[in-house]
Formats: sequence, C-alpha cells, structure tokens
Amino acid sequence: MAADDRKWPWNRVGAKAVKNVKSAEEVFPASQAIRALPSDTPLAMQVELDSRRRLALQHAAFPRPDATRIITVANQKGGVGKTTTTVNIAAGLAKAGLNILVIDSDPQGNASTALNVDHRAGTPSIYEVLVEDLPMSETIAQCPDFETLLCVPATIDLSGADLQLASAVSRETRLKMALDRYLRDRDAQGLDRLDYIFIDCPPTLGLLTLNALVTAKEAMIPIQCEYYALEGLTQLMKTIGMVTQHLNPTLEVSTILLTMYDGRTNLSQQVADEVRKHFPRQTLGATIPRSVRVSEAPSHGQTVISYDPSSTGALAYLEAAREIAVSGVASAGIAGNTGDVNVGKANSARQREDEVAA
Ligand SMILES: Nc1ncnc2c1ncn2[C@@H]1O[C@H](COP(=O)(O)OP(=O)(O)O)[C@@H](O)[C@H]1O
Ligand SMILES: [Mg+2]
Repeated sequence: MAADDRKWPWNRVGAKAVKNVKSAEEVFPASQAIRALPSDTPLAMQVELDSRRRLALQHAAFPRPDATRIITVANQKGGVGKTTTTVNIAAGLAKAGLNILVIDSDPQGNASTALNVDHRAGTPSIYEVLVEDLPMSETIAQCPDFETLLCVPATIDLSGADLQLASAVSRETRLKMALDRYLRDRDAQGLDRLDYIFIDCPPTLGLLTLNALVTAKEAMIPIQCEYYALEGLTQLMKTIGMVTQHLNPTLEVSTILLTMYDGRTNLSQQVADEVRKHFPRQTLGATIPRSVRVSEAPSHGQTVISYDPSSTGALAYLEAAREIAVSGVASAGIAGNTGDVNVGKANSARQREDEVAA
C-alpha cells in the first residue's frame, strides 16, 4: 500500500466502491471520512475543534439576568457587523429560551430582514414610535424562527426621522420613554419579563444612535478586524462619554466584539491584540470569523443560528452570546480605563466564566 493510501483511506475505499457498485456514502460514510482525516490538516483540526465547541455549548448554561439588560449595538462605521451581531446574539440567546426584543433603529431595516419580519413602507415601525408617538406594543412582530424573539421593525420611513426629530420635544429621550411605557404595559398585562433588549443602530452618530444610547444601560461595540478598525473609535467613545455626562449616567461600554476575524492574517491578529490591550475587560473571548454562512443567512430571511446552526460562524456567535449571558450574572464592579466613559464593570470574559462555573 502506498504511503499516501495509508494516510488518505478513501483512495482505497473509492476503488472498492466502484467494484461493488455501492454508493461512496454506503462504503465510507462522511462522518467516518471526517474522522479518518489526518488530524494535522487545517480542515480536520477545524472539524475537531467545532465538534468540541458544539458539545461544550450543548451543556452550557445561559443564565437569565436579574433584570432586563438593554444593550445598544453602536459603531458609526458602516459594515463592521452591527446588524449581524445584533440579530445573531439575539437569536443565540433566544435559542437558549431567553426572552428577547430587537429594536431595529436603522432605516436600512437589515435586522428586520434577517429576523424575517415585515418592514415594507407603511408597516407600523420604530418610525411611528419615535415620530408619531405610536405605542411600541403596536409595532411588535414575532420572529418566525424563534418563539421568544420579538422585533420592532424599521422601514425606509425612518430615513427622514433624524431631520424630523431635530425640532421635536425631548428629541433625545423619545425611544427611552416609548420603551419604558412598553415595559410597564407588559408588566401590567402579566407578560413574561424581557431578558434582553438589543437596539441596532445606523452607521452615524445622529439622533437615532443618540436615542439608542440614552435608552440603553450597556453599549456593545463590534469592531471589524481590519486596518481602519480603530479609527473613529475615539469619536464614538467621546459621544458615549457625552451621553454619560449629560443624558444617561449609568451607560457603560460593557462589550466589545471582534468581527470578521481571519486568523490566517497578521492584520487580524494585530487588530485583535490592539483592541484587547485597550479594552481587556470588555473584549469578549469569542471572536467572530469571516464566514460565508454568516453573510448568506440574511438573504434567506434568517440568522446564521437558524440557517446553519453547526457552522463555525454560528458557533462563534453562540459562544459570544453565552459570554454575554454569563457576564450579566457575574458583574464584579471593576473600574474601567478610558476616562469619562464607564467601561466594563464586568470582569474579563474568562474570569466571568470561572465565576459562574465556581
Ligand atoms: N462574520 C462575517 N463573515 C462574513 N460576512 C460578514 C460577517 N459579519 C458581517 N458580514 C457581512 O458584512 C456586511 C456588513 O455587515 P453588517 O452587519 O450589515 O454591518 P453594519 O450593520 O455594521 O453595517 C454584510 O453584508 C454582512 O453580511
Ligand atoms: Mg447595520
């Protein structure tokens, strides 16, 4: 037997399959083929790693927070993964049975698309809530893939909201007032408490993002692992610092998530190192890899959590969701490191896991 045949068993199996006229799958099931891969190939290592991660996640607890956590997903850079992060973290937590609301506050309505909720022009949406004082309860839609995932959609009407809000009364607090009212109504009706509310922001620091930051208790910042990643972060931190000083003193930057990470490039590694150096306590241990499955899920009206739950991208988002859930019960009140901005009262990701495991 050639040395190569010993290493790659399907070379032998292929010949046998032709003789016995059996399908390749009967002769050598894919699951066996994967096990037979030499364990030092990158593919085999990835398969092995992913199956361990799947197993770990199957047994992982996603604890409920003590109170509703309101998290704004913000970064004024476009295309860094805000929407992808919002819908996939939300879906990951909903998959674990937690009660989730996603507020789509981007006129592009990409979160509404990924969650497969109607957002054609004229659909009751966040626009009517912000501009016309429509009760939020009249805009709530159910995500078809997850029983405990609700969404306030955004329609194209929202693109004019920034201008319309500019002259409105309480223009920075309109979302907060609407959400407070909705939560009180839910309470009065005896509905289950929401565990998480995520607000997806547009790629600007205008009134929509400001409303979201005023409403939230936490800000989550997705950072794309590429050259310009840290540019603009100073501006975002300044804006958050201003909101903390004048409008929402309890807002903290609790979570930073590295997205579109490519472990094969030095650049991704360098950006990740730099971000972890500046935000050691806030940066999640999980990083989101660049993945075709993640990017194609929305075109099927799905999150990657429902579209391909065992893919590397889905596993990464589930791991990130679990870290966030764990941090919610293991906050240690540790001081932050960026001056005016409250950053990360929660412990580092790994410390958090240890605390919960203990
Ligand atoms: N991990 C990923 N792998 C591959 N493509 C991604 C990933 N995350 C996001 N994308 C793609 O990048 C684009 C921008 O992502 P998006 O979440 O819409 O960013 P933002 O909301 O910040 O503008 C989208 O086309 C999305 O599908
Ligand atoms: Mg977006």
